[in-house]
Amino acid sequence: MERSNPVGNLALQLVQVTEAAALAAGRFMGRNDKNGSDAAAVEAMRLMLNSIDMDGTVIIGEGEKDDAPMLFNGERLGTGRSPEVDIAVDPIDGTRLLALGRANALATVAVSDRGSMFDPGPFVYMQKIAVGPVGKGVIDVELSPMENLSRIAEAKGCDVADLTVVVLDRPRHEQLILELRATKARIRMITDGDVAGAVMTAWPDSGIDVLMGVGGTPEGVISACALRCMGGELQGKLWPRNNDEIERGRAMGFDFDVVLSMDDLVRSENCFFAATGITDGELVDGVKYYGNGARTHSLVMRSASGTVREIATRHRWEKLMRFSNIANGKE
Ligand code: FBP
Repeated sequence: MERSNPVGNLALQLVQVTEAAALAAGRFMGRNDKNGSDAAAVEAMRLMLNSIDMDGTVIIGEGEKDDAPMLFNGERLGTGRSPEVDIAVDPIDGTRLLALGRANALATVAVSDRGSMFDPGPFVYMQKIAVGPVGKGVIDVELSPMENLSRIAEAKGCDVADLTVVVLDRPRHEQLILELRATKARIRMITDGDVAGAVMTAWPDSGIDVLMGVGGTPEGVISACALRCMGGELQGKLWPRNNDEIERGRAMGFDFDVVLSMDDLVRSENCFFAATGITDGELVDGVKYYGNGARTHSLVMRSASGTVREIATRHRWEKLMRFSNIANGKE
């Protein structure tokens, strides 16, 4: 096997970015203030991303769908020193979950070599199928749910009825859910947060085997980065909302029929992902605040080595405030 010298793990710096976003956003739990929480998370992310030695370009910013505060596509971040990288951010995946104090809101960021991330342009939805390492290589987003589940069940050595599918609970999934029910597989309907859903497919003991359905394109690219690190797979297809999007897409050179493979979504083995829990969830705990500090729980991954770290961090305000007042998050 060809050997290469280890290089620094950027993800260990990225986790400081998602921690800061989670610390700032966590204050908004249950306050029904989506824009306030997004603004706090975005500001914290921008500040921390700018402290990292990298020459980064935002390929996947967030917010176009709902005019929320965002990191802008094309925005340059980092100190400007090498490495040159693409950046994907979702400062809060599950803004509504956070607004209502529900489980599984995450702060997420992914980074990969410059030019390796899929740029979806203005197209905000993607049809997705995602699996962990055991299902890798057997799925096909163009096949029926039954066909995909049969293949995954065979790869896992179990029955379709033993599998659990995670699906966003949306009217657009009415037909998909009917088809899934006919397969007898178990269905876990989530109200939001399909990055967590995709990561769960590769997370031991999550009980989730596959994610299916239409969700955000930014979340699709970020999930592909995470699954590349975890040895799983995500396939997608851009999902136009109407004829106008189809025509605009064609004029811009997008092909809505093409299947986006892992290599299309993130074409690099130098890929990093970090996520910090904002509210408690199956993957990670949410932020816990106490008098003089807080505790965060994060996942930190790197594709080159395949390492997935869980990091629990205790933050002390008196130390942290020397660098920034954002992490405290109090008005
Ligand atoms: P945000 O919190 O970033 O807005 O996304 C939440 C989310 O549930 C994503 O996880 C998912 O991909 C997307 O929204 C689905 O979009 P929609 O809510 O429009 O169906």
